[in-house]
Amino acid sequence: MTLRAVVRGVGHYLPARVVPNTEFEDRVDTSDEWIRARTGIERRHFAAEGETTSDMGAAAALAALADAGMAVDEVDAIILATSTPDLTFPSAATMVQARIGMKRGFAFDVQAVCAGFVFALANANALILSGQARRILVIGAETFSRILDFTDRGTCVLFGDGAGAVVIEAAEGGGGSDDRGILATDLHSDGSFRDLLYVDGGVSTTGTAGHLRMQGNAVFRHAVEKLAATAHAALDKAGLGPADVDWIVPHQANLRIIAATASRMQVPMERVVVTVQDHGNTSAASIPLALSVGKARGQIKTGDLLVTEAIGGGLSWGSVVLRW
Ligand code: UT7
Repeated sequence: MTLRAVVRGVGHYLPARVVPNTEFEDRVDTSDEWIRARTGIERRHFAAEGETTSDMGAAAALAALADAGMAVDEVDAIILATSTPDLTFPSAATMVQARIGMKRGFAFDVQAVCAGFVFALANANALILSGQARRILVIGAETFSRILDFTDRGTCVLFGDGAGAVVIEAAEGGGGSDDRGILATDLHSDGSFRDLLYVDGGVSTTGTAGHLRMQGNAVFRHAVEKLAATAHAALDKAGLGPADVDWIVPHQANLRIIAATASRMQVPMERVVVTVQDHGNTSAASIPLALSVGKARGQIKTGDLLVTEAIGGGLSWGSVVLRW
């Protein structure tokens, strides 16, 4: 028997305010046509004034628990992936813990920018396999609208706010690639690429939150190359290949990156969950949002083989292969 971390429930939360591309036409020199053609984005959600990352994370967590039919006091741990926490400390995860009324266990944040959910899921898997927790809420939640420079057309049109969550639970499998649960993980970082994507403020430098800065073109090239490589590596570790994949659930940054990665993996776009048109890039929230929407659409079904892959600031990138 092999211990596996199996997804029992999934849920998401999107703020009420929908911002169409046309809203940016008054602010910067851009157009709905350019944004759609270069990114695939049509709209995104922005948090209301006073609405925070932990507010959205808690809503997504409760939705995932309801989907799993699991009570809050059955959860052992919360791992929340974010680069836009409510405060410098305590962690947004502990704020979610208090908000959902969880009185036991432990909670902490993971910061790997857009790759955050993949890193959080890999860490949750490790906690389960090492016997330190049996049920874990893994959340991705972001309010990127708060760190955007609304005078920079190269970045402000790309990002959105939201949250997604899964509940994973320890279960016994046969040890083969037909088991349900997480089958393989593959994580990477290379800090020498810091200047390609960063925020120009922070506690020990400026003492401010700062604004997002990105060399989009360079990040694009790294994304296309590194995402297909990490997805192949994770599939290889699981003893599987691209032909076994039912769904790629990619980080939703740019439709052209999503399509190029699928093409390199020789997986047709019919087997890719795409939400970028409605959410924009929600950083660590994008994969759990896509998992939740993909399930609600009837795309993702029990037993399906999924590959999630993401890249973000760091650079940090990675993938998780799991059977739903
Ligand atoms: O999630 C974390 C990882 N992030 C990503 O994966 C993002 C990766 N990068 C991208 O998605 C793309 O590089 C962008 C969407 C950011 C940009 O698309 P691109 O095709 O790489 O465009 P570019 O940066 O090469 O810029 C082409 C032109 C430039 O004008 P010039 O210099 O050719 O005159 C830009 O100034 O497009 C211009 N441009 C815009 N034009 C209208 C850049 N942003 C805009 C805009 N509206 N919003």
